[in-house]
Amino acid sequence: MRERLRQMRDEAWKRISEADDTGELDKLRVRYLGKKGELTALLRSMGSLPPEERPDVGKLVNELRGQLDDFLKERLHNLEARELEKRLEQEAIDITLPGRRPAFGRKHPLTQVLEEIETIFVGMGFEVVEGPEVELDYYNFEALNLPPDHPTRDMQDTFFISDDILLRSQTSPVQIRVMEKQEPPVRIIAPGKVYRVDVVDATHSPMFHQVEGLLVDEHTTFGDLKGVLGAFIEAIFGEGRRTRFRPSFFPFTEPSAEIDVECIMCNGKGCRSCSNAGWLEILGAGMVDPRVLQRVGYDPQKYQGFAFGMGVERIAMLKYGIDDIRLLFENDMRFLKQF
Ligand code: DAH
Repeated sequence: MRERLRQMRDEAWKRISEADDTGELDKLRVRYLGKKGELTALLRSMGSLPPEERPDVGKLVNELRGQLDDFLKERLHNLEARELEKRLEQEAIDITLPGRRPAFGRKHPLTQVLEEIETIFVGMGFEVVEGPEVELDYYNFEALNLPPDHPTRDMQDTFFISDDILLRSQTSPVQIRVMEKQEPPVRIIAPGKVYRVDVVDATHSPMFHQVEGLLVDEHTTFGDLKGVLGAFIEAIFGEGRRTRFRPSFFPFTEPSAEIDVECIMCNGKGCRSCSNAGWLEILGAGMVDPRVLQRVGYDPQKYQGFAFGMGVERIAMLKYGIDDIRLLFENDMRFLKQF
């Protein structure tokens, strides 16, 4: 019996010493000290011993139980510490690694150009106003001197929602809406989307952006118009860029002009972008027709005004050398990231 005890102790000691993780240790605890464990079994078999030996052997078994228990606890403690250390090591964060740079968004090139245009005009004392994209025929055409069935309406075919409601084909109707509400002096620009029945190609889109401008005051002359637009063109395209005023026609201005800027691609020499003309058209403008002023209740004897309208896509394309308007609407990040 004593021999068996000694054997068991040596064996248990060895196994416990060699146990490699807490799971294994737990199995050994059950194996030796559990209810059905080896030591318990030994204790039960004491009935076969001569009565005089029983107290001694009983004491030995209990001693061994205590020793094994202590040893198991000690090993458990050590293994737990080791496992914790290992886990901490694995989960460690390398604080010397460079961080991941968040991808910053940026403004769409059209928004950038639009904001630049606004800043330039605000600097000259203009106020930024907006009007509806779904507009009445009256504001889009009639009040701008384009009566029903008049041939000038053909210049701008648009999308009709009903007989007298349409998607505005120009930002000019905002002129009327502003003048109806306030007395001169008026100094506004009106940016926004406009719509036309156009087939999509490199220079056409059924939706695009315009900025309208209107100034009405006493003693306003064509010289003022030239001064303001000249300053604008210089600010947006750079100093020294030549401009040219060409006589033109718009129903709501008289006289009317189209303004060309020296081709940005070839500096006026003539190239594909300017169809060898050396000039690119960027603005329509003119002195507000007295009939338009009269209609909103302004006295044309006292007040004069000038107005202008430009396409934002056109200006963005010229400024950045973009040769296809579709690029501005396709949302290809490789394109948009360049601005
Ligand atoms: N609304 C015109 C267009 O879309 C542009 C324009 C021309 C606006 C002359 C004006 C202007 O205010 O005076 O073609």
